[in-house]
Amino acid sequence: MNLITAIEWAEGYNRRGLYSPIGVTFHWVMAALVIFQLGYGWYLGWQPVGGDKYVGYQTHTQIGLTIMMLGTLRFLWRSQIAGPQNVDEDSLAGRASRVLQAWFYFSFFALPISGWVMWSTLPSDLPLSIAGVIPFPNLPFHQLSEGLQQRLMQWAAKAHFWIVWITVLAIPGHAGAAVLHYLVKRDRVLPSMFDLNGPQQPGVLGSAPDKGPVDEPPPA
Ligand code: HEM
Ligand code: HEM
Repeated sequence: MNLITAIEWAEGYNRRGLYSPIGVTFHWVMAALVIFQLGYGWYLGWQPVGGDKYVGYQTHTQIGLTIMMLGTLRFLWRSQIAGPQNVDEDSLAGRASRVLQAWFYFSFFALPISGWVMWSTLPSDLPLSIAGVIPFPNLPFHQLSEGLQQRLMQWAAKAHFWIVWITVLAIPGHAGAAVLHYLVKRDRVLPSMFDLNGPQQPGVLGSAPDKGPVDEPPPA
């Protein structure tokens, strides 16, 4: 399947008010990684200083950089195929959901970048990588003065902290709104992120094959 065919296939889902399986997979894999990262980051924060904590943070960096890579691919995908139109874009709810979604995209980059700055000022020689597989460089901060490194560390830690907290508040707002849509408005917003059924429209890629006209019953 080339890119054009993939986009046409995904548009078939969008026309039925659904995200395509690619959009749904990005959504739930990244949601799980972000929620894990938040819990694990705090857990590590409470651990006593030592080797285990550093190795734990190395795993934290590997998952964080994976989120940044997936966020880049997802952003590129979404720039080609925006998703279904299930809410009135100009309503207050539509605007609020767009702001939260934009915040999530911002956090997919701002958290890893502020983390990367912190990690690069720490006196650790544990290497960085994406998912423990693709090597990723440290920023060349060790050439800077100690004072400047300390200021960078403080600035990045503050940014990481605030972005973490805004994201922690944004998640229940976003998920709660989706559940409210389901319970109160009873529209397609929540099913759009779960339903993996094909478009089921004749002629649309991804639909079940058209069975043709139904046979007329034989005359009595
Ligand atoms: C979406 C991705 C990420 C999330 C959700 C996340 C979340 C967190 C959380 C919840 C903490 C604990 C904060 C606290 O104790 O106040 C933390 C700390 C930290 N994170 Fe991340 N993080 C992410 C990505 C990264 C990346 C990519 C790196 C490094 C390359 C990184 C490096 C660090 C470091 C060094 C700390 C310790 C900061 C400190 O003790 O002040 N993080 N992160
Ligand atoms: C860390 C957790 C989460 C993040 C980062 C996140 C992020 C996003 C983003 C960026 C979108 C926009 C669509 C896209 O670009 O693919 C979206 C849509 C959506 N999310 Fe989440 N999400 C999270 C958790 C949840 C949860 C727990 C639920 C349900 C209970 C949920 C339900 C939905 C729904 C229904 C949509 C479609 C909304 C629409 O099209 O108006 N999300 N999410």
